[in-house]
Amino acid sequence: MVRDGRVLAAVVASQGTLHAEYGGVVPELATREHLRNWLPLARCVLAQAGVLPGELAAVAATRGPGLPNALMVGLRAAQAIAFALERPFFGIHHHEAHLYSPWIGGEPLRAQFEQFEPNVSLIVSGGHTLLVHVAAEGQHRLLGGTVDDAAGECFDKTAKLIGLPYPGGPLLDQLAVGGDPAAFPFPRPLLNEPNDDFSFSGLKTAVRYFLRDHPEVGRDPARRRDLCASVQAAIVDVLVTKTLRAARRLGVRCVTASGGVTCNRALRGRLAAECAEAGLRLRLAEPRLCTDNAAMVAVLAERLLRRGCAPTPLDAEMLPSWELT
Ligand code: KG4
Ligand code: ZN
Repeated sequence: MVRDGRVLAAVVASQGTLHAEYGGVVPELATREHLRNWLPLARCVLAQAGVLPGELAAVAATRGPGLPNALMVGLRAAQAIAFALERPFFGIHHHEAHLYSPWIGGEPLRAQFEQFEPNVSLIVSGGHTLLVHVAAEGQHRLLGGTVDDAAGECFDKTAKLIGLPYPGGPLLDQLAVGGDPAAFPFPRPLLNEPNDDFSFSGLKTAVRYFLRDHPEVGRDPARRRDLCASVQAAIVDVLVTKTLRAARRLGVRCVTASGGVTCNRALRGRLAAECAEAGLRLRLAEPRLCTDNAAMVAVLAERLLRRGCAPTPLDAEMLPSWELT
């Protein structure tokens, strides 16, 4: 819930532990959880903000991209509320919301668009790895993305090979602390290609073959730390190098990052160090706003409302494969 850029209340229902049992997101379970959760969450957020439904000026939900049925639950619920209240509805692009999440911060949490400047934005999650040029608010162009696995998927799949439970990204991050990132030189796919694309499936395969040939590394705690640090370094190296290269090429003075993988300490540290060296300002989404959340959706929707953008029709369908254009 957002008013004049201030986040009045934000609640997230995480399904992490539910899906952990299956080693990945189970779409049918995700849908059922959304159905179960949306009304209690809406009530909770209204109560926390001290706002009555009739006081809402507009309603927003993610329209895509994402898992079809999970999207449909949120979209239809929000459209029904907007219909009942006779308020405009905004169907938000999930990645566009991520693009602006680094511009939300502080305590109390609020949008900081007065500080906005053109930037290159890295969105890294379990499902996406995108590099976007944000020339002005509302004006963005997709520069590149992953041609196979997302960075978070690579973290999770290599963590699984190392024997860590799903989602392994945060655990790999923890295990890498104190490990030697140069211990094992894993490949840096597409690092030197003249494009803004990423590829991570080869790295995962390299780790699989490495563990097949050196099973003792996975069993020895110190060498396991080195392995985690080395895998992490390979992923972070590619992400940071290509992001900064794009920023320099496009002449922007600012780099931003969001998405679950932006919680990774090595990624945050390396982005901070390299941006400082290159004289670029860095805006990282706060860890609580890196992962998917409704606050970034509401902030963007309020901006669209204020700018006089046309609302989304109440019968608009979800767009599971909506491209960022
Ligand atoms: O944005 P997100 O919560 O959900 C979507 O995928 O949409 O991102 C989750 C991903 C998972 O792959 C998870 O392992 C990864 O973000 N992740 C991390 C860390 N925290 C979350 N990966 C590496 N290090 C972390 N600290
Ligand atoms: Zn996301």
